[in-house]
Amino acid sequence: MRNSTRSEVDPFIVMDVMEAARKAEEAGRHIIHMEVGQPSTGAPSGALKTLGNALENNALGYTVALGLPELRKRIARLYGDWYNVDLNPERVIVTPGSSGAFLLSFTALFDSGDRVGIGAPGYPSYRQILKALGLTPVDIQTAPENRLQPVAADLKGQDLAGLMVASPANPTGTMLDHAALGTLIDAARAEGASFISDEIYHGLEYEAKAVTALELTDEAYVINSFSKFFSMTGWRVGWMVVPEDHVRVVERIAQNMFICAPHASQVAALAALDCEDEMRENLAVYAKNRQLMLEGLPKAGFTKIAPPDGAFYVYADVSDLTDDSRSFAAKLLEKAGVAVTPGLDFDPVRGAATLRFSYARSTADIEEGLARLALYMASRG
Ligand SMILES: Cc1ncc(COP(=O)(O)O)c(C=O)c1O
Repeated sequence: MRNSTRSEVDPFIVMDVMEAARKAEEAGRHIIHMEVGQPSTGAPSGALKTLGNALENNALGYTVALGLPELRKRIARLYGDWYNVDLNPERVIVTPGSSGAFLLSFTALFDSGDRVGIGAPGYPSYRQILKALGLTPVDIQTAPENRLQPVAADLKGQDLAGLMVASPANPTGTMLDHAALGTLIDAARAEGASFISDEIYHGLEYEAKAVTALELTDEAYVINSFSKFFSMTGWRVGWMVVPEDHVRVVERIAQNMFICAPHASQVAALAALDCEDEMRENLAVYAKNRQLMLEGLPKAGFTKIAPPDGAFYVYADVSDLTDDSRSFAAKLLEKAGVAVTPGLDFDPVRGAATLRFSYARSTADIEEGLARLALYMASRG
């Protein structure tokens, strides 16, 4: 039986690293995980308690496709609390993670073959999902002087039907401030490109508050998730805010593609929104870890790093150390017992000379990982 050409998407290299780390652990080695992009903490305790009660007396069948009305209302309130944006709950659509929102947004906005701009380095699945939907991902090679974020000039003459940005971004953790985001939104509009803002790392910010595209425009798709700030990766629940006149379009696609986001996860997510104090405790751990990384990585020999504004990653230029990030990461795993992600996942061109370090785990793990990296790098002479 033949496969479609659009199914020829690339594997996630970090998964190979995770598998190698798992095998090493199976063989009895102790590995420090700086490769995974998820908190080691679970869902907030309030969410678990509420779900426990719901399991007793709720059949947890399908919900309506747009999501539980109370959850949509509560998410809208978050925009008031976090950004002082008055958001109509009717515009909020609950999705199976932000990954589900990518499928919905790309399907609702673009026709086969349309060109969609994505920053490189960037989250790998944008490119692969676009390809799988028969769309054309257009890599925008971002510049270090722009903190590896796209700028208006990058869009000129690219014939883009859409532009996808993330702030804070994965793998760099850099953010677009109010002015930079506004300029990009204007430039996309001038080019006739729909603007999609991936805001999954909002809440995980260290110096300045992240800016939502909704502070600047209603003409954008804004995607977020319970995976990161709310520490609920496996629950597969996120959301998307769309312009009022797009709600029905997305609703029809969601009804057919997913029916709904998992009901149990929606119940837990609603309660999680009232557990911000617990989430702030996690944030304090990341902030400490970030400081340790910013001090420890240069000492270990990873000197070309930019301080991340948010998320829980440091992206390092290791061109002075290797031109093969995949085998360098394999060496770090084998010799230092530290798993990291080769940059090739995020940037197929320049990623051969970059690595991503995640600091989402416990502070003790980060201290141990940095000590191991320093020891190994010193031993290389
Ligand atoms: C930038 C970015 N967007 C989206 C996702 C996917 O998240 P979700 O669990 O909400 O599908 C990730 C996961 O790491 C990510 O880094």
